Amino acid sequence: MITALINSVQIVTVDTKGINFKRGSELNNLYCVYDHSIIIEDSIIKDIIPASSYNPNTEHKQIDMRDKTILPGLIDCHTHTAFAGSRADEFRMKLSGVHYEEIAKAGGGINTTVKAVRATSEADLIKLMEPKINYFIAQGVTTLEIKSGYGLNFENEIKLLNAINYFRKNSPIKIIPTFLGAHTFPSEYKDDHSSYISSVCNEMIPFISKNSLAEFCDGFCESTAFSSDEIDIIFSAAAEHGLKIKLHTEQFNNVGGIDVALKHNAVSIDHLEVIKKEDIPKVSKTETTNVLLPGVSFFLGYQYAPARKLIDNNAIVALATDYNPGSSHIANLNLIMSMAALNMKMTIEETISAVTINAAKALNENKTTGSIEIGKLADFAVFNTPDYADIVYNVGKNLNVMTIKHGKIIYNAL
Ligand code: NIG
Ligand code: FE
Repeated sequence: MITALINSVQIVTVDTKGINFKRGSELNNLYCVYDHSIIIEDSIIKDIIPASSYNPNTEHKQIDMRDKTILPGLIDCHTHTAFAGSRADEFRMKLSGVHYEEIAKAGGGINTTVKAVRATSEADLIKLMEPKINYFIAQGVTTLEIKSGYGLNFENEIKLLNAINYFRKNSPIKIIPTFLGAHTFPSEYKDDHSSYISSVCNEMIPFISKNSLAEFCDGFCESTAFSSDEIDIIFSAAAEHGLKIKLHTEQFNNVGGIDVALKHNAVSIDHLEVIKKEDIPKVSKTETTNVLLPGVSFFLGYQYAPARKLIDNNAIVALATDYNPGSSHIANLNLIMSMAALNMKMTIEETISAVTINAAKALNENKTTGSIEIGKLADFAVFNTPDYADIVYNVGKNLNVMTIKHGKIIYNAL
C-alpha cells in the first residue's frame, strides 16, 4: 500500500547526503523542504516530491499534514526506563545539599533501585514500563534505547532484559536493549569485585549473547563504580560475544574511561560532563558518538558537558534524556533539547540533529532511520507548528501530535 503525507508546511529532512551522521558544523544543516509530499511504500520512504507534482486523485492513503512540521521520528538513545521503586527521599536529600556520589557511597543510589527491582516480578516491571514507553511515543519517539543495570546479578539482569525484550517484540516502536551489568557493584560484592566481574563475563554476557537479549554492553567507568581496567575486562568479554560497546564515562571524575572505550571501538561514549580539555580533540576525531545528557546536570545541579567545544572540534554529538530514577528523572526529550540550547549553547538546529540522525548513529541505526531520506524507514514525528524552532522554544511543552512508525500512525492527538 502507498501512503502519502500531504500538505505539510515544512519537512525537516535532517538530510545527510548519504553519510548517515552529522559531525561539527554539519549539525546545523537541517535541509528543510517546503510544500512537499512524502510518499511511503512498504514502510519505506519512496519519494519526497513538490506538492504541485502530487496527483491527489490516486488510491494512496492520504494523511493531511496541513499547518504541520514533519521531523524524522525522534530517538532517545540513552535511557534506564526499566526500573521499579522511587528515589524521592534521595531527591529530598540532594535538595538539602547531599551529593549524588555521597548517597552512592553510603549504599544508596543505584543500589536503592536494585533492591526495588529485585523485589519486582518481570510481569510487574512490564506493567511499570508500559506507560513510560507510551509517554515517549506521545513525544514523537520512534526508537528508544533501554538499559538493564538495576538487577546486578544473573537472575535480575536477565529479568530486566526479558522485560525490555517484551517491548522489543510488542511495542510499535523500535526498542534497543542494552546490557548494563557493569552499572555499579551490588552491595553483596562491594568488597569482591573480581567475583562480580567473573559473573558478568562468564555467566551473564554468554547467556545474553546466546539468547540475543541485548545489542549493546554498557558500563559505568567512575570512582564509585568500575575502574577502566575492570571495564576493559568486561568489554573484552562483550566483544568476544558480539555485543557492541557503549560507556558511561567522565560523569564526575576522569578515571580512564575514554581510552578504554575508544580501545574497544565504542559506538558511543555518554555523559562527558567533566571531559578534560585535551581529550576533546581525541574523541572528536573518532566515529564514536558523544552522547550528552543535560538532564543529569540540571537534575544534579552541576556542570554541563562542553557541547560547544565538542561540536566546534568536529565531533559527532547526540543528546538523550538518560531517564532514570536517580540522576535524571526526566523523560521529556523536548525539554532536553531546550536545556541543551539554553545551557549548553547548542543551536536549535544542532539539538534537532542530536535527537535524530546522531542519536540513530549512537545506536548503530543510522543507515535505516534518523533522517528523512529516500530508502529510509518511514518514521516521523509530526508537530503542530509551521516552524521547527517552536519545538525547542516551547520549553517542556509537547507539540508532537502524531507519531508514525514504518509508515503507520501509532499515536494521533489530532
Ligand atoms: O546515567 N551514571 C550512571 N547511571 C545513571 C544513573 C543511574 C541512577 O542513579 O540510578 C546515569 O546517570
Ligand atoms: Fe545513564
